[in-house]
Amino acid sequence: MKFALVTGASSGIGEQLALELAARGYGLVLIARRMDKLEALAALIRSTHQVEAHPLQEDLSDPDAPGRVREWLVSHKISLQILVNNAGYTIWERFDSVPESDWQEMLHVNLHAPVKLCQMLLPLLREHSPAYILNVSSTTAFQGVPFMSVYTASKAFVRFFSRSLHYELKSEQVHVCCLMPGTTRSEFMERANMMALAPTAEKVMMSAQKVAQAGIKGLFRKKIEVIPGFINKIQSLIVALRLKPIFEKGAYKIYNRP
Ligand SMILES: NC(=O)c1ccc[n+]([C@@H]2O[C@H](COP(=O)([O-])OP(=O)(O)OC[C@H]3O[C@@H](n4cnc5c(N)ncnc54)[C@H](OP(=O)(O)O)[C@@H]3O)[C@@H](O)[C@H]2O)c1
Repeated sequence: MKFALVTGASSGIGEQLALELAARGYGLVLIARRMDKLEALAALIRSTHQVEAHPLQEDLSDPDAPGRVREWLVSHKISLQILVNNAGYTIWERFDSVPESDWQEMLHVNLHAPVKLCQMLLPLLREHSPAYILNVSSTTAFQGVPFMSVYTASKAFVRFFSRSLHYELKSEQVHVCCLMPGTTRSEFMERANMMALAPTAEKVMMSAQKVAQAGIKGLFRKKIEVIPGFINKIQSLIVALRLKPIFEKGAYKIYNRP
């Protein structure tokens, strides 16, 4: 059985990405911190799709986590064909109010862990080519977003890292795609204490399932980037037309925190 590994599979987009891949016959390695959620998802996947599903508890802010994941995959002889770097979160706060340890931790999850997993798992993926890597960025990567400065920059990093890898690995049949969701219904806003913005966000929110479906479709079509949803596509296009400052000033008003 060919396997896909999904980080941040305990909720939201990651959970839906795992379900999409299971529906296509892939065995799953599910990674996050909340083991109860992973076990419930693994049980659902096994019973619904008759594929193997292995929950693996890891805190990706720990720099040693990617190494442990690799060891686990090797010792369990997992034929890895797909790596999905989805785990991530934001901090909604003025930059100068965020303690260093908090933004460092976020950078480990959003940026260091995906890079390290790509590098450490590439040899395993190559053994099962054509292989795939899906890195989850965000439409915030197209512009600055005040009060989410480190998060936005981490997502821009993921975007350009993925675009570069896409070309580097193309000839080896390892296809790298970057999924760039806009506002999506998940635990994301609640975790960042952003629920005050939920009524506005609700107007443009996509379901995590739709985002995941678009991501997996784009991945198998070997797209370099996937922006799910019409509004997100249009917004990204406008920003790409060098109108960033308008959106950045707008974002400043929307996300402003005293
Ligand atoms: N929702 C949006 O509006 C939106 C928009 C653009 C991009 N995104 C991106 O989409 C991705 C998925 O987010 P989501 O919307 O699905 O949010 P979510 O429901 O909060 O899911 C985040 C996932 O990341 C995992 N995670 C967080 N910290 C972790 C850590 N230290 N170690 C391991 N896993 C960790 C969480 O699992 P545990 O807590 O169990 O560890 C959870 O499974 C993120 O990269 C996010 O930046 C989201």
